[in-house]
Amino acid sequence: MRLNTQQAIERLNRGEVVALPTETVYGLAASLKFPDAINRIFTLKNRPQDNPLIIHIAHLEQMQPFCLELPQGFDLLANAFWPGPLTIVVPIKPETIPVQVRAGLSTAAFRIPSGPLARAVIEQTGPIVMPSANISGRPSSTQAEHVEEDFGLDFPVLDGGQCTCGLESTIVIFREGEWRIIRQGALSQERIAEVLDISLNTKQNASAPICPGQKYRHYAPRTHLIPTKQIPQDYVGVIVGFTDRQYSRAAKIYYLGSSNDQDEIAHQLYSVFRKLDTDGVKEALMDMNIPDNGIYKTIIERIHKACS
Ligand code: TXA
Ligand code: MG
Repeated sequence: MRLNTQQAIERLNRGEVVALPTETVYGLAASLKFPDAINRIFTLKNRPQDNPLIIHIAHLEQMQPFCLELPQGFDLLANAFWPGPLTIVVPIKPETIPVQVRAGLSTAAFRIPSGPLARAVIEQTGPIVMPSANISGRPSSTQAEHVEEDFGLDFPVLDGGQCTCGLESTIVIFREGEWRIIRQGALSQERIAEVLDISLNTKQNASAPICPGQKYRHYAPRTHLIPTKQIPQDYVGVIVGFTDRQYSRAAKIYYLGSSNDQDEIAHQLYSVFRKLDTDGVKEALMDMNIPDNGIYKTIIERIHKACS
């Protein structure tokens, strides 16, 4: 069921759950004021209770009631990248935030989305929680149709067309005297490094990572996806690849865009993952001959998760 902005606002203010578009991916939204609606998100997504949610706000003042002293460098990050695809985890006053939102932690994740519809809604509702609008273990939704694939045609969704980024936000935390990326995402490490020193936290404890979501199985298509840097010229099966390459004998090619265009690939990635499954493709070679910097890094990480 497609909603307009006003209807989405009214439903959230009544304590209902709706899907909203953001610049990264679609989110399943509930107002922070309605713990029952927040619980319903976990049920709808089949999401483990120990995986906390991101609080989305429209402007910095909406964060103040929840926060303790903000870590050094927070202002630099917020000024440079908000609104936008960066989520910042900060220490909070736990009693101000429903326990299920923070999964019992003494921190919470915040983001000001730049998607105009999401921000227009949050201006009117106040802070909302929004995990990606997919059943846990499925690819995030990057268009309203994906939300309907997972939650049914009757599910209320504000249709904002295709998300401009197509990958989830990058998540950072200040720990042991340094800023670390704990989930790679739509904002590259290089862009953050223009503002402050940041490391990629690759050493997260697999059973208890700083970012709890990282311990769960991520999307793996039913298709057996085989990543390879060199597609054999005579390969006659299905290929996931790029419009600027020749795969002369392939039976079918799923295009992610041009190999030179990281934004386009990010944009297409989850749609192609979903399409492989709807088409019932059994096996496909995934062309991995792409650079390993910028958003490509996130793309490569998501593909490896999908192949594992
Ligand atoms: O782009 C996005 O971030 C999208 C859109 C809708 O904004 N949202 C999204 O939410 O990807 P979700 O729930 O799919 O992923 C949130 C991630 C989870 O991996 C969770 O573990 C982590 O954020 N997270 C939330 N609170 C945290 C905290 N206090 N400390 C560490 N990680 C946290
Ligand atoms: Mg998610």
